[in-house]
Amino acid sequence: MNTKEHIKIAEAKVEEKEVVIEISDLRKSFGDNHVLNGFNMTLYKGENLVVMGKSGSGKSVMIKCLVGLITPDSGYVEVLGKEINTLDQQHLDELRSDIGFLFQGSALYDSMTVRENLEFPMRRHKEKLGVVNDTTPLVLEALENVGLAHTLDLMPAELSGE
Ligand SMILES: Nc1ncnc2c1ncn2[C@@H]1O[C@H](COP(=O)(O)OP(=O)(O)O)[C@@H](O)[C@H]1O
Ligand SMILES: [Mg+2]
Repeated sequence: MNTKEHIKIAEAKVEEKEVVIEISDLRKSFGDNHVLNGFNMTLYKGENLVVMGKSGSGKSVMIKCLVGLITPDSGYVEVLGKEINTLDQQHLDELRSDIGFLFQGSALYDSMTVRENLEFPMRRHKEKLGVVNDTTPLVLEALENVGLAHTLDLMPAELSGE
């Protein structure tokens, strides 16, 4: 196989990669505070990507643009093949049910146990999850996946933040 053929195959493989998130030239200011000044990012299926930056650098603002909680001043944001800015409320809600994100603080309802916190969003998506009544197996599976099955009946205040 000659070099040209090698290159062709390599290009074909790159094209096969499925884009999950595409952000291009994203801009957002709050008054004179220019937080996002042309942010770009591409995330492909199967990739894990960490966005790092000091406190106040705009990570949360970027995530909020990604899920449509903040409207950017300009730029292109596409998630799972859908351009966020063009979606109406119903389509945005549908897309959000496929996205998981949480902030370190205020991620759980303080007055509910871990089990109740996990059951709460499941109630809304019962049809999609194929659940009729008992959400316990799904709750347990979710906790087991992250090694936290023992926290099922604890209150958020009893959990370590680490
Ligand atoms: N709703 C808002 N109104 C005004 N300023 C905001 C708002 N949200 C975030 N900011 C400002 O945007 C900047 C980036 O914040 P943020 O994205 O929360 O930073 P971090 O990288 O720590 O997540 C900060 O200066 C913050 O004060
Ligand atoms: Mg933040």
